[in-house]
Amino acid sequence: MTVRDHAGHVELNRHYWDDEAATVHGPLAHGHWSAPEPHWGLWATPESQVSMLPEDVAGMDAIELGCGTGYVCSWLARAGARPVGIDISEKQLATARAMQAEFGVEFPLVLGNAERVPHEDDSFDLAISEYGASLWCDPYQWIPEAARLLSPGGRLVFLRPSPLFALCVPPEGQASTALLRPQFGLRRLDWGNSTEFNLPHGEMLRLLRSHGFVVEDLIEIQAPRDAHREFADVSADWAHNWPSEEIWKTRLAG
Ligand SMILES: C[S@@+](CC[C@H](N)C(=O)[O-])C[C@H]1O[C@@H](n2cnc3c(N)ncnc32)[C@H](O)[C@@H]1O
Repeated sequence: MTVRDHAGHVELNRHYWDDEAATVHGPLAHGHWSAPEPHWGLWATPESQVSMLPEDVAGMDAIELGCGTGYVCSWLARAGARPVGIDISEKQLATARAMQAEFGVEFPLVLGNAERVPHEDDSFDLAISEYGASLWCDPYQWIPEAARLLSPGGRLVFLRPSPLFALCVPPEGQASTALLRPQFGLRRLDWGNSTEFNLPHGEMLRLLRSHGFVVEDLIEIQAPRDAHREFADVSADWAHNWPSEEIWKTRLAG
């Protein structure tokens, strides 16, 4: 597959997901697909706590930007929405297809770059990303693309690492209690084998507003004291004291 990738991060991240990460994520897919209630992010925050999804998604045309193994799409489909998942990694989509067959839940899966989605303008009522485009795509590319894809009044909701986490996480190991890089200029985090993106709050707010989004909420997630596990880049203790991830809820002005 050829993708337009002027900055190089799309191809790098495709290789990263195809070669390394998909192997780790594949085995987790079954648990996500069989979850009785949607839950979000590292700390499995239940939907009932954060209402990341609009109240009634039935009948909505939805797109998941960086859908990975497709479990968010599966939750949307089972709630009556018409989801489409787009992802750059053939391996991640292969797992998503296997899950579709096992659970009998079908929806279109598109192999492609969430910064350049092959769908018409105004095609969707809801765009969603959980650690997908919201982390791996350049916000100056994927936010305008989400605005293009949504109909007036459409929702864009996404979960991403917090800027504070991005300032405190070292190239290897867990987030520290020291600031490891400046906040001014924070945008692109090059890790060698992959590239992530994060914008400080003010810049993200202005970017969203400049593309017609009204920000309705920003939820900073606190890991529970009895968090179910640790992660290589953040401890449950750190994320109990500081937000490691956050949910943005926005609506395109109608
Ligand atoms: C962590 S997964 C997100 C899916 C799921 N919500 C999760 O948390 O596991 C990240 C996904 O983003 C995809 N991705 C990275 N860059 C992308 C791009 N430019 N366009 C579409 N998908 C991309 C990766 O292939 C991967 O499947």
